[in-house]
Amino acid sequence: MDTPTIRSLIDAVPIALVLVGQDHRVLAANPAAAELFGVPLEGKSASAVLRHPDFLGSIDACLAENRKQSARLVLTGSGRETHLGLTATPVVTAIGRSALVAFEDLTAQEQTFAMRRDFVANVSHELRTPLTALVGFIETLRGAARDDPAARERFLGIMDREAGRMIRLVSDLLSLSRVEAEERRRPAERIDILPVLKSALATHREQARGAGVELVLVAHGPAFEVKADADQMTQVFHNLIENAIKYGGAGGRVDVRIDRVERDAVLRGPAVQIEVEDHGEGIDPLHLPRLTERFYRVDSDRSREKGGTGLGLAIVKHIVNRHRGRLRIDSELGKGSRFIVILPVGSAD
Ligand SMILES: Nc1ncnc2c1ncn2[C@@H]1O[C@H](COP(=O)(O)OP(=O)(O)OP(=O)(O)O)[C@@H](O)[C@H]1O
Ligand SMILES: [Mg+2]
Repeated sequence: MDTPTIRSLIDAVPIALVLVGQDHRVLAANPAAAELFGVPLEGKSASAVLRHPDFLGSIDACLAENRKQSARLVLTGSGRETHLGLTATPVVTAIGRSALVAFEDLTAQEQTFAMRRDFVANVSHELRTPLTALVGFIETLRGAARDDPAARERFLGIMDREAGRMIRLVSDLLSLSRVEAEERRRPAERIDILPVLKSALATHREQARGAGVELVLVAHGPAFEVKADADQMTQVFHNLIENAIKYGGAGGRVDVRIDRVERDAVLRGPAVQIEVEDHGEGIDPLHLPRLTERFYRVDSDRSREKGGTGLGLAIVKHIVNRHRGRLRIDSELGKGSRFIVILPVGSAD
């Protein structure tokens, strides 16, 4: 096979391919390889393409031993890691023996593995803390506090709280995985979202009163129809209102607004916008991009103390995504935070 034929063949393959000759120079490379290593590649020595011992070693071994070689490389540069799976296969062409090196980009797969590892580690850690506390108190109740009714009552109270925390964590995890599983399926039913918002507010009146917070609703209209899942929207409002009371309650007032938007620039169409604004201490802008990550908390001790699992906003984000809407968070330290849910009105079909 001559070089033009080889070139047309490798050009058709979607993964990066580099054909290296006996003299360790590149005979041909496809567009995917050009994208990975830059151009021009042909004629360059292998070490000028990529100075990595495993890449160069694989080519050496492939050409010398006439055997397929594989390796995994991690390239660091421009601030990010690229994980590559490499296979060097000996091939014989019209111009002699050469090594065809294929690169598979494994970065996304590696990131998924890392996320899964982190997730399992986080869940285990979150469960271990209350479980350790429970075991400790059981021991105390059997020993030192055996005949002390006052201590027993106090410890049972703490155990109750810790068990409650585990139940919340597990039910949040379940609801997160349910939302994720159906994220691609957009809700079909059109509902008026205002009563949903009102009932979420009613659920929190008592908690707000206890925290010295006034809950104020301003609805700019009698009804707000969107395609939405009422139960999921209840979860969204529930978490945003609860957060505003829990973390922003110092401001003494939480404002909830619902409004219609003629055209949302990002959603490119009419939308309904629900805002939950508190006047508390606000969030450092540093944290904003990570706030909707699972288990991310600004101050984990304080959030835990308030019974939070750090999954609330992750659930909110997934639900809003499922509704093809968007979540905006504006916050200023010392002034308060504003969480805005924007839902597309959609067509009336
Ligand atoms: N209105 C707010 N003001 C200040 N900080 C906030 C506000 N809302 C959320 N946060 C911060 O964001 C973090 C994540 O919130 P999220 O709702 O995901 O978790 P949580 O409230 O700790 O737990 P959960 O909602 O699962 O009970 C909180 O721990 C808190 O630090
Ligand atoms: Mg929350």
